[in-house]
Amino acid sequence: MRIDTGIFSCRGKTALVAGGCGLIGAAGIAALVGSGASVIAADIDGKRGRALSEATGCDFVRLDIGSEASVRACLREAVGKAGRLDVLVNSAYPRTKDWGRELEKNAFSSWEKNVNSHLAGGFLLSRLACEEMKATGGGSVISIASIYGVVGPDFSLYSGTDMTLPAAYPAIKAGMLGYTRYLAARYGGYGVRVNAVSPGGVRNGQPASFVRRYSAKVPLKRMAAPEDVSGAIVFLASGASGYMTGQNLIVDGGLTAV
Ligand SMILES: NC(=O)c1ccc[n+]([C@@H]2O[C@H](COP(=O)([O-])OP(=O)(O)OC[C@H]3O[C@@H](n4cnc5c(N)ncnc54)[C@H](O)[C@@H]3O)[C@@H](O)[C@H]2O)c1
Repeated sequence: MRIDTGIFSCRGKTALVAGGCGLIGAAGIAALVGSGASVIAADIDGKRGRALSEATGCDFVRLDIGSEASVRACLREAVGKAGRLDVLVNSAYPRTKDWGRELEKNAFSSWEKNVNSHLAGGFLLSRLACEEMKATGGGSVISIASIYGVVGPDFSLYSGTDMTLPAAYPAIKAGMLGYTRYLAARYGGYGVRVNAVSPGGVRNGQPASFVRRYSAKVPLKRMAAPEDVSGAIVFLASGASGYMTGQNLIVDGGLTAV
């Protein structure tokens, strides 16, 4: 659906979407393009990035959000291509190979690596984007957080599966919500808005027993589709949310409301 006129229009805006090749990032890119934005996808996966670029007409820049040098180079390259930056969506999801291991089997080094790449990398990218937007009169930074930055896990959902929620995940996501408020306070005076979107679980090949149990807990009785998150992204990117900053928009089918 095209919404490139009216209050949700992003026409004339340039958006950088980190993690743009992922489930939520790619759906967000489709919606931002539909709302009239020029989009630059950034991701560690160059092959999928080039395919995405061909399919949607967006530009692509390689990014490793776990590397300070790469984050700085990505921002520079994106701004160099577009001449300005109006919107940053951070949907990158770096994780180590042992991600998803039970708490007791988790190495401390794994916690450190995941927190450093996901939380610290996201913070650096957001901060640099805020500086860029400050210099050009404003913009909107959107971090994709999670309901697990707000509520604790219900471990019974995972019973009988090899899934679990890694302890670093809620730490990272609550941290994202914290730096969202910090950056909102710091850059609000320059017209830069900083918000988060917290999706509930997105259906993506999880075991049937998990999907059934999770869906039963949700007032809307299903897991999210990636596209369910896109409306919140376009809303926060557009002028429709012009008086919103420092907020966390929860898109979870009502899970955290009950
Ligand atoms: N899928 C869900 O159920 C869900 C629910 C709530 C919140 N979220 C959050 O949404 C965000 C996106 O999740 P998703 O489901 O789209 O994940 P995904 O795995 O589908 O996509 C993540 C993207 O990040 C990229 N990436 C990985 N490491 C990177 C790195 N070092 N540098 C740059 N890019 C890198 C991947 O290549 C991939 O394209 C994450 O922050 C995740 O925590 C996801």
